[in-house]
Amino acid sequence: MAGYDIIDKVKASLENLCPATVSCADIIALVARDAVSQQFGKDLWEVFTGRKDGNTSIAKEALDNLPSPAATFEDLAASFHEKGLNKMDLDILSGAHTIGMAPCSTIATRLMPVTDPTLDQGFAESLKELCNRGQNNVSFGTPRFDNQYYSQLLAHRGVLRSDASLLEDTESLHLVGLLSRGEDTFLKNFGAAMQKMGGIGVLVGSDGGVRTNCIGVQLLS
Ligand code: HEM
Ligand SMILES: *[C@@H]1O[C@H](CO)[C@@H](O)[C@H](O)[C@H]1NC(C)=O
Ligand SMILES: *[C@@H]1O[C@H](CO)[C@@H](O)[C@H](O)[C@H]1NC(C)=O
Repeated sequence: MAGYDIIDKVKASLENLCPATVSCADIIALVARDAVSQQFGKDLWEVFTGRKDGNTSIAKEALDNLPSPAATFEDLAASFHEKGLNKMDLDILSGAHTIGMAPCSTIATRLMPVTDPTLDQGFAESLKELCNRGQNNVSFGTPRFDNQYYSQLLAHRGVLRSDASLLEDTESLHLVGLLSRGEDTFLKNFGAAMQKMGGIGVLVGSDGGVRTNCIGVQLLS
């Protein structure tokens, strides 16, 4: 993820004003809301605060909790279910892939040695061209946060296999159709789903602490 430099700057100002008070977990939740809301000139959802940071941080634990970009709908629904999120949350939160990018390595198996037949052929060719040209990442969409992700999925132009997977389930396919036709519906439901996701596994009280710096790895010099 590109953007942790911003988290570090926010943390530095907060530590300056109000030491050891605002957790990195809260800062990340607030910055995610602000980054999405910026283009609308108003906050799209309220962020409940008061999270503590974990006292330990193990990189492998993060990966263990992330579904693969090659996941089927069944895999995705199962990993979301494990966190108390349902199939509707899965469809709605995946809409975040309206912005940002993914490394070519995450789609290599969709392009080589055979092209994934569920991909629009013209789109597959343009992805191959970008990655063969030595570009390391492919863009999910435009820099605007909107519901175009869903029309892209329906046009078989979802970038990740996991994006395309949302068309595999009848109910999910139906919801993708609704979201592709209603930007306001998408934005409203996205905010509610972000609040729900932001409430998963929250540490409070002495379950955790407040880190003084959000950088994950601190190297000794
Ligand atoms: C449904 C399962 C999901 C899978 C399999 C998945 C997978 C991925 C992958 C492989 C990348 C590229 C990351 C990299 O290595 O640089 C990515 C990027 C991204 N994902 Fe997801 N993701 C999922 C759900 C979500 C959710 C729920 C959100 C937020 C609500 C989200 C937001 C993003 C954003 C904003 C980026 C772009 C990051 C950037 O450009 O720096 N994703 N995702
Ligand atoms: C693309 O990806 C590479 C490595 O995956 C990264 O170092 C680089 O900064 C990315 N490019 C852009 C424009 O973000
Ligand atoms: C975590 O660290 C805080 C101090 O920052 C401490 O008060 C708390 O007891 C610790 N909790 C656990 C579960 O280790």
